[in-house]
Amino acid sequence: MSIKKILKMKKKEKIAMITAYDYISAKIAEAAGIDIILVGDSASNVMIGNKDTIKIGMDEMLIFINAVKNGAPNTFVVGDMPFLSYQVSESEAIKNAGLILKAGADAVKLEGGKNVAPLIKKMVDYGIPVMGHIGFTPQSYKQIGISSKGKNKTEEDFLLESAKSIEEAGVFSIVLEMITEPVAKKITDSISVPTIGIGAGRFCDGQVLVWHDFLGLNKDFEPKFLKKYLNGFELFKEAIENYSNDVKSGNFPAVENVFKPIEGSDEK
Ligand code: KIV
Ligand code: NA
Repeated sequence: MSIKKILKMKKKEKIAMITAYDYISAKIAEAAGIDIILVGDSASNVMIGNKDTIKIGMDEMLIFINAVKNGAPNTFVVGDMPFLSYQVSESEAIKNAGLILKAGADAVKLEGGKNVAPLIKKMVDYGIPVMGHIGFTPQSYKQIGISSKGKNKTEEDFLLESAKSIEEAGVFSIVLEMITEPVAKKITDSISVPTIGIGAGRFCDGQVLVWHDFLGLNKDFEPKFLKKYLNGFELFKEAIENYSNDVKSGNFPAVENVFKPIEGSDEK
């Protein structure tokens, strides 16, 4: 996968993106042939247990990005720029974007529209591929609230202008988060780079879901836009219960799990 291929997929083949944060998960995602892995700052919520994405920083993101690239060396990996890593100054932003690439990402993602367009242009000028992210942007939830966007003409115009301005700045793709279906379709039809939706309806050029959400590991998280493909929480819980019961009953370890004092056999 490359930027060129991602651009070519628009209107030809839908793009399937998921998030991942660790080595083995990335390995599974690559084995499944996923188009793009996003190391999202949603790691703050699902990996660390914070209530929002404001709390995660560069240090944590770099560890997750490095782990994911180790597990999925042949998959296109996008690394989220965490809150405060691109807002303080242009030079800090470019340095942090570079660190995300050095950790193994093939591109960075950052939230915003017209406000970040000049910054995106600078990054792209320096050879840093950027994925945009508009609509509900979790890093600014304290200001914009947690709700879908594109519900009236003002919001629609704002979103279309946001998409246009970051397209012109040079993004190779844009995440549309929680945008009403007709507006997400309008954006998708009006720009030349692929849109990747989450809660943005059926007509985006691709879709993205968070690892713990679509695998049912994030037990009580059940927003309307989510489809669960596995009952992960219950399956893991049952396995742990079975192990615990086996330990207590003496069924584990069994005879095949123990080392025996025969010469040369202790390596198995
Ligand atoms: O952090 C994240 O997981 C994201 C996706 C929801 C697009 O930004
Ligand atoms: Na994110």
